[in-house]
Amino acid sequence: MEFRVKRAPRIDTEITVPGDKSISHRAVIIAALSNGVCTLRGFLSSDDCMRTVNALRALGIRIEQPDPDTLVVHGKKRVLAPPKGEIDCGNSATTMRLLAGLLAGQTFESRLVGDAALLRRPMDRIVTPLREMGAAIVAEGPEQTPPIRIHGGSLRGLHYKSPVASAQVKGAVLLAGLFARGKTTFEEPVATRNHTELMLNYFLIRTVKENDTSVSIFGDQTPESRDFDIPGDISSAAFWLVAAAAQPGGHLLVRNVGLNDTRTAALGVLVRMGAQVREAVEDVVQLEPRGIVEVTGAPLKGTVIQGKEIPQLIDELPVLAIAGALASGTTIIREAHELRVKETDRLAAIAHNLRIMGAQVLEMNDGLEIHGPTPLRGARVPSFGDHRIAMAFAVAGLFADGDTLVQDADCVRESYPEFASTLEEFTSQKRMRTSTPVIGSLAARLGEE
Ligand code: S3P
Repeated sequence: MEFRVKRAPRIDTEITVPGDKSISHRAVIIAALSNGVCTLRGFLSSDDCMRTVNALRALGIRIEQPDPDTLVVHGKKRVLAPPKGEIDCGNSATTMRLLAGLLAGQTFESRLVGDAALLRRPMDRIVTPLREMGAAIVAEGPEQTPPIRIHGGSLRGLHYKSPVASAQVKGAVLLAGLFARGKTTFEEPVATRNHTELMLNYFLIRTVKENDTSVSIFGDQTPESRDFDIPGDISSAAFWLVAAAAQPGGHLLVRNVGLNDTRTAALGVLVRMGAQVREAVEDVVQLEPRGIVEVTGAPLKGTVIQGKEIPQLIDELPVLAIAGALASGTTIIREAHELRVKETDRLAAIAHNLRIMGAQVLEMNDGLEIHGPTPLRGARVPSFGDHRIAMAFAVAGLFADGDTLVQDADCVRESYPEFASTLEEFTSQKRMRTSTPVIGSLAARLGEE
């Protein structure tokens, strides 16, 4: 499949986005370990998340899917069955890394495999701590890359200082910690998304937040079965938020989107770049805050993105780079080396495609320097098999002269299966539903209470 994108008409609409990918993976894993039946609504039934669902089924968990975004998970009180064959994680590093943590606590042997792109992703980051906890775990690939073979069981708690800021690594260590003797502490260099901790807490597992970058868990706890509604994915919303922000006068409202503050740093960047962005948390009952984001576009100006912000907008960097190309002045992204080991080398991919579309980009080893504003020209650009590159360049196409063709766009199914139909809305004047600004009135109403 290929996306053919034309310049967007005036953006003025209201959308929702599918369920959060990170939260979906964690919700189904923890529900599977629980002591009963859990209904998960708003589940993201994308290719990535379905890899996790099918892996859990292979480990003996009954999971029904009465409709695409609802799962009924029959938790088996932490008891998993040995899989009959290897577990295929497809393109999903989240599946592989979180499952490795879970399997480190099981007394049987399992082997995790994946597609060609996943076979290039680094796994030493999880192998090291899980081995220190007592699991027999080997990354069989040439550079500590997958497949991974794990023979777990009898783990001991560990205080682990992770050299990389990665929520997947944190998730793997905390899940292993649930099966370990005593206390397991995970310390990260910079705070990453906290969905594992929150989901564990929601299922009544006790964790201790030692400080902003350190969390502990005690072994031998069983999650209490509960139902959960997964909010929309702010990283999916980001594609449309950037489109609206970069169109002076554009207006977009996204409803029921996750507003966990370890995930919203991209909104702050858009504000720095000159857009008007407002968010209103409407519900925190299930621990994961959710609500409305509203953006009004403006002529954007360049900014610097680096440091602590990076892990908290890591998935939004491709589309923020597009905002950078459209902004006046220079946009600098630094300390983002992690982008080199995503589904593809995203720094190289962004630089390659932006240049094809006429932008002036300097590629550094840990980031990009983008000189705008660029009158982008429509072109044929590869996706490099990476969902977020495909979607970011579809957004670039909304601002380009002539047609933009994004090749091999099927990969968007990894995180956002409905992307193509929302893209069509953004390119067709007829389908743009006018939206009325809401956040002013919402704030007034909240103030009255
Ligand atoms: C994720 C963490 C991030 C992110 C990925 C999902 C998660 O990866 O890029 O899309 O669900 O934990 P890292 O842990 O490699 O930073």
